[in-house]
Amino acid sequence: MQITRKGEIICLDGFDVRIDKKVVLQLLDCKEDNPIYEEVEEEYEELQEIVYGKIDPHALIKFDEVPKEIAKQINLREKQAAYVLTTVGREVSAYSTLMFQQGDYLKGMLIDAMADSFLFQMEDALQDVLREECANRKAGIKKRLEAPHDIPMEMQQVMHRQIRAEEMLGIGITSGYMFDPVKTSCLILVLTDDEKEFRMQHDCRKCSALHCKLRKVAPVMIEVIENGKSYRIPCAEKQSILDALIAHDVYFSAVCGGKGICGKCKIQLLEGSLDVTPSDEKKFTKEELEKGYRLSCRAFPKEDCKIALDRNDESDFEIVSDYSGKQSDSGASNDTAFGIAIDIGTTTIALNLIGKQSKEVVYSFSTINKQRSFGADVISRIQASNDGKKKELQASIRQDLLTGIREIIKETGISPKQVEQVVIGCNTTMGHLLMGYSCETLGVVPFTPVNIKMIKEPFEKIMGSGLLDCELAVLPGISTYVGGDIVSGMYFCDFFKSEDICLLVDLGTNGEMALGNKDKILVSSTAAGPAFEGGNITWGMGSVKGAVCGVRLDKEKAEVETIGNEPPIGLCGTGVIEIAAELVREEFVDETGLLDEDYFDDGFPIAKTPDGKNIVFTQKDVREIQLAKAAVRGGVETLLLRYGVTYDQVKTVYLAGGFGFHIDTKKAFQIGMLPREFANKIQTVGNSSLGGAIRYFISEDGDREMERMVDLSKEINLSSDKEFNDFYMEHMFFE
Ligand code: SF4
Ligand code: FES
Repeated sequence: MQITRKGEIICLDGFDVRIDKKVVLQLLDCKEDNPIYEEVEEEYEELQEIVYGKIDPHALIKFDEVPKEIAKQINLREKQAAYVLTTVGREVSAYSTLMFQQGDYLKGMLIDAMADSFLFQMEDALQDVLREECANRKAGIKKRLEAPHDIPMEMQQVMHRQIRAEEMLGIGITSGYMFDPVKTSCLILVLTDDEKEFRMQHDCRKCSALHCKLRKVAPVMIEVIENGKSYRIPCAEKQSILDALIAHDVYFSAVCGGKGICGKCKIQLLEGSLDVTPSDEKKFTKEELEKGYRLSCRAFPKEDCKIALDRNDESDFEIVSDYSGKQSDSGASNDTAFGIAIDIGTTTIALNLIGKQSKEVVYSFSTINKQRSFGADVISRIQASNDGKKKELQASIRQDLLTGIREIIKETGISPKQVEQVVIGCNTTMGHLLMGYSCETLGVVPFTPVNIKMIKEPFEKIMGSGLLDCELAVLPGISTYVGGDIVSGMYFCDFFKSEDICLLVDLGTNGEMALGNKDKILVSSTAAGPAFEGGNITWGMGSVKGAVCGVRLDKEKAEVETIGNEPPIGLCGTGVIEIAAELVREEFVDETGLLDEDYFDDGFPIAKTPDGKNIVFTQKDVREIQLAKAAVRGGVETLLLRYGVTYDQVKTVYLAGGFGFHIDTKKAFQIGMLPREFANKIQTVGNSSLGGAIRYFISEDGDREMERMVDLSKEINLSSDKEFNDFYMEHMFFE
């Protein structure tokens, strides 16, 4: 390449560059499966030498001030710029015009694309010159501006004037601000004092030309700082930081499934930039936004950035893997064969190793269901699966289970060959996600499951891993919303052989219930929502250390108890019930659920976090709990009515689930979630789904007993039940 200087303008000629065939085909959107692909290739080969013969490449570079018009137009603070003009001359443009005039559109388009490709290559070839010129001026390149994507078309006239294109190369400009010859390009490179920066290339990530055929977006890199450690993950175009974190196995509890509602996916931007979205504005104060707080599910980075993770540590989530069965005290076992019983909950997963001979639990393992990254409740998981994340969800649950099984094997020293069966109790959605079934029909009327029958398959087939060589059984369900976990729970509570009528209420992420005995069982599920697990509550959180789980009010003064006696950081489900009950008792909330006007705007203060923030219970939180408790109570009342029994005729009320295990039943009566008539009948059973899976493994006649229970069960669909609606409205009030 020859470089000459004419005053302040650097002129470049004699470019030794070649047309890039790949780019030409890309510009024509001509892929190998295109029916005319071969024809285009042939034409390209034929045209090559002719086009080279007609290309007359020249370039101009000028270092000068950023013109005021442009600085003003796009709010630019930098003052200096380099103007770069490249052209392939008049002849090649005239040649393509001729082809179009003759009706040979393919040739015309090919010539245009070849000229464009040559222009791109010229630009690349200029990089070394520009680096050197910038270095001489102790400057770097901050950004590239090109019409019409970065600056308006009329700015081409300003650039044309500035670089003296007419005088230097005879290049004109039309009234539509197009260069003449048309195969000419001009850009402005904005200079910076930072010599290390050299952003001359096209930055497709920031470019508005979404349909540009050459669009190629390399993933940005995100440096993540957490607990003093740092690691880097790539984030692709249109991928949120939350999705990038999940894709790299960084577990994040995304309660709302990335809808920008729950606020649990908080990150702090330390370097780089992230737009403030309307969801951010709703979740963070002005100061927090200034400090860089953003919702990772709404954050789509356009450049490399550095973030700090601010996630609730759920590694110590209190997981109820207890059930009122036999547990080996010593953990030692003389058993020679074992089973593994598993409860896959929407929030947590519990695994127990059971001795076949001793019928005792030898080892327990529990973990958070990492699918929480896709949303806290079943609806968000169904949605995520339907949005194309079915495989990721299946991989996530398989991974959690395999981790647990490996830990059991490692800690107990048993051989994988000694495991004779794995039994899983889970709700219908969890079962579908494990099996890799489509969830399309689970979320829409009439909510038809793909399969809820008992599944018995080789472990490897379901788990995609040969870790164990045994049978895996997934316990049967009754419907989409009354799944295998409830059947397992009923089995654990002896519904199949009980003469007396019992009620089982499972207060997990969904509120399922069953009423009956060995002759008749009615089941249903209520859309209680996640409030009992801290979901949708302003300061709600899972049962982790520091979550408020007990509240006592003395007028407006609150005394709190937290999990692990750690400083308070939020409210778990039990804490939510406690504070609601206490607010009612102290009459800060009236019977309609209205919070005292003193606290109406900012919420009732319960405790302060270690960094001085007020943990409050708001009017919206009271409404959430009203809806949840009314749903449970309405469900119980409807089942009793449909069954034709009174409170007195119910012998035992089993409360299952993590929440049910910890609840102070007095408080549940106080807010009217359960009728006071049940006061002496409550029996908390913990993880009854796990208990049922264990029982199934050790029972001689599990298949028959379970089948009988499923056959006996009839589902009451509460959403279309008139009485349920009446009960629901009635129990929305506090007593
Ligand atoms: S999308 Fe990329 S290649 Fe296309 S014009 Fe924009 S920056 Fe250039
Ligand atoms: S707000 Fe981001 S996951 Fe809920």
